Amino acid sequence: MKKMLITGGAGFIGSHFARYALRHLPQFQITVFDALTYAGNRANLSDLEGDPRFKFIHGDVRDKAAVSEAVQGTHYVVHFAAESHVDRSIHNPDAFVTTDVYGTYVMLEACLKAKIERFVHISTDEVYGTIEQGAFTETDPLHPNSPYASSKAGADLMARAYFQTYGLPVVITRGSNTYGSHQYPEKLIPLFVTNALEDKLLPVYGDGHQVRDWLHVMDHVTGIATALLKGEPGQAYNVGGDNERLNIEITKMILKTLGKPESLIRYVTDRPGHDRRYALDTSKLRALGWQPKMDFETALPEVIRWYAQNQDWWQPIKTQHEAYTAFSKAWYEERA
Ligand code: NAD
Ligand code: TYD
Repeated sequence: MKKMLITGGAGFIGSHFARYALRHLPQFQITVFDALTYAGNRANLSDLEGDPRFKFIHGDVRDKAAVSEAVQGTHYVVHFAAESHVDRSIHNPDAFVTTDVYGTYVMLEACLKAKIERFVHISTDEVYGTIEQGAFTETDPLHPNSPYASSKAGADLMARAYFQTYGLPVVITRGSNTYGSHQYPEKLIPLFVTNALEDKLLPVYGDGHQVRDWLHVMDHVTGIATALLKGEPGQAYNVGGDNERLNIEITKMILKTLGKPESLIRYVTDRPGHDRRYALDTSKLRALGWQPKMDFETALPEVIRWYAQNQDWWQPIKTQHEAYTAFSKAWYEERA
């Protein structure tokens, strides 16, 4: 049986991917390697613990010794581990540089030495920057704007360099804004859903007319699995939902679904350097047989219901986690 190491597998997308891999890729033994930062939660994997094909390692991608031990005997690596929140990167970029850029280098170097068969680097559409019209293709130049996007672009280019220079079989995925259950309640959808459930204000940045392409987490996961199994080494693949929405439209959909008033909307000071629009051309991944299956109009209400029914998952984070409360206070007080 082949061994797959999933870094960042205790986070939002990584935990969904680990569950998918255990259920649908029986040829793999799965090891999650995760530092359990504020965004990592071992409980996201609780239903997988005990499966003989599943193992968890508590480790940091910046720790060369721990990484080199973890990749020994591994065939496939799927590298999700990253600091992932744009606003935190604006507030303090430090961990973005050390984890996203340096940590990715540590992973690539260890994987080269261990002669692994495939390294899937999880990048983001944000590396391309903002686009007024049309959609980015994989050969477009990278023009990242936030410290998060720039760190991810550094990692994306380092992954490319390890293919071009050393022949490490790297495949890169660039996913769009992802929504689903178990997303840390600092990102737009879980923050606004949980605020609305508590009758708190929904802080919309600027005019709320920024556009994001929303992708259901299961569509993102199957996109990554397609790139893993069918992608060509050295290539990048866009993973997008073909589902562009204005932020204010999403905000109103959330309020409507929960039966809450639009008076909860607060327009606040915009995010500095805020990208206006993201859009992806996904024909390259579609040519490998993938397509997004989830319909936003039915999937978003289901996701909203998950947060409504799983308050014990997010309430302790919002009230007791210092990493949440301290950042949230500092960031939103500045914008009020
Ligand atoms: P997340 O913040 O929910 O999870 C990140 C995980 O990485 C956590 O479990 C955390 O503990 C772990 N981690 C952080 N630093 C680490 C370190 N130094 N060593 C080991 N583990 C560490 O993130 P997410 O939203 O699930 O995103 C996962 C990946 O997908 C990231 O690389 C992100 O850039 C990318 N991505 C996310 C989106 C999105 O909309 N969420 C879209 C496209 C791409
Ligand atoms: P986010 O979920 O942080 O993802 P990203 O910045 O990676 O796109 O934000 C999605 C959009 O929602 C983005 O345009 C910023 C906006 N936004 C708000 O208007 N208010 C908020 O409180 C947050 C967190 C995001």
